[in-house]
Amino acid sequence: MASIVATSKELFWAEVEQTTAIYLPDSPVIVREKLVHANAKCLQMEIFRTCTGITPFAQRIFSSLPISSLPISSPPMKVLDLGAGNGAYTLQMASSGAHVTAIDQSREFLVVIATKSAEIGCPSENLRLRRGDITTMESYDGPFNLVVAMDILPYVPPTKLRSTMEKIQQCLEDRGILIGTLFTTESLHPLVQELQEKAGAHFYKNSSEFITQLLEHSGFTVLELEEREEGGFSFKAEKAPVEKN
Ligand SMILES: C[S@@+](CC[C@H](N)C(=O)[O-])C[C@H]1O[C@@H](n2cnc3c(N)ncnc32)[C@H](O)[C@@H]1O
Repeated sequence: MASIVATSKELFWAEVEQTTAIYLPDSPVIVREKLVHANAKCLQMEIFRTCTGITPFAQRIFSSLPISSLPISSPPMKVLDLGAGNGAYTLQMASSGAHVTAIDQSREFLVVIATKSAEIGCPSENLRLRRGDITTMESYDGPFNLVVAMDILPYVPPTKLRSTMEKIQQCLEDRGILIGTLFTTESLHPLVQELQEKAGAHFYKNSSEFITQLLEHSGFTVLELEEREEGGFSFKAEKAPVEKN
């Protein structure tokens, strides 16, 4: 009789899929019997609109990368910004010479990016805007040298996290870099966590160990992991080269 042995990778993803999700987009947000917002989806958008800056972690990584196309003979970096929001990351990289594809599901944010891009005189050939839901898009195209996933993975439903990570891995060149953030249960006040969960974020247990496993089971090697003051972790990882026969 054939026996089925679940690998640690399969067990890991099965556990991820069971992570609690308590986001009800059309419901009021009530925390400890207090009405915080009349509508969870509107609260989520209000939170997203506050994302207007680059974290020191990402800034440090950007400074260490050859983003600019100087010297002129070297090709510009190809960057994918997932859940680009107001475009803080996209615009900094595109105006530094990188060729950036920015994906967001919200038309509002893509308009913000296009408007700001024109205001700062960012070369139009450096910017490609794509509207879409990263959890249902078939692929992100590519190959890219860098994927930026800042404050987007916590909003991916746990049942879609594996396929999203697979698409990120597939769109990167060998040894391409992924930077991103994840929220974890240990670092935030429970009230703040509950509020954020009701606004659509997901929190994972076991902090740095979880993030390391998530990245390794997605075909990455962890290069940096840094705890954030506002909760969770920022990470930098490298796509493990695909073995060729
Ligand atoms: C918290 S904001 C982060 C914005 C930006 N990455 C930053 O850190 O400044 C999350 C962004 O991801 C977008 N987003 C959330 N879920 C998405 C999905 N499934 N597909 C595409 N975009 C999504 C939202 O519209 C929003 O602009």
